[in-house]
Amino acid sequence: MSENEKDNLLLAIKEEVIRCQKCSLYKTRTLPVVGQGNHSAQIMFIGEAPGANEDKTGVPFCGEAGQILNLLLVSIGVKREDVYIANILKDRPPANREPAPEEVKACAPYLLRQIAIIEPQVIATLGNHSAHFVLEYFGVPESQLGISQLRGRKFAVQDPLTKKHYTVIPLYHPAVAVYNRHRLSDLKNNFKAIKEQLKDE
Ligand code: URA
Repeated sequence: MSENEKDNLLLAIKEEVIRCQKCSLYKTRTLPVVGQGNHSAQIMFIGEAPGANEDKTGVPFCGEAGQILNLLLVSIGVKREDVYIANILKDRPPANREPAPEEVKACAPYLLRQIAIIEPQVIATLGNHSAHFVLEYFGVPESQLGISQLRGRKFAVQDPLTKKHYTVIPLYHPAVAVYNRHRLSDLKNNFKAIKEQLKDE
């Protein structure tokens, strides 16, 4: 797909998300957080849902967890503008509560379309929910394992609809490292798997 086609398709998703009323979150959010980054990224990060800062700015991972993500990207020599960052939910759940199953069902098709357009080599999931959703969608048998057992592992997957191939690498959510240095060093180690995967391809 040409760069131009990608830009147009991603813009169409953005416009749909802005108008979306498939669940009730549009009533309480300030701005939707559709996604940000390179439309031909080799690496796509998938978080759970926007937080308070993201809701105000429309930019994914722009708060404290985003600062950690930036630091982790630097640790593997990857520029933030070269990756694509999105969430399962495009609108913030009130008071940062967990996404409800019907919200995930309503919103995830946008994410799956974003993945198919961007066609990253690596899909790096951030946190438990994102790992479970993505691995389950791709039919990975280990999808229900806890994030501590999944983090840093590489799963070769195929999209059942588009037949495209990706490598999924589950990672802890960067927010776990805000007050925990051990988690930060775990994350740094696990981030190396992304770089290794790109070298191997
Ligand atoms: N946490 C997430 O999962 N996503 C964001 O965009 C910000 C914080």
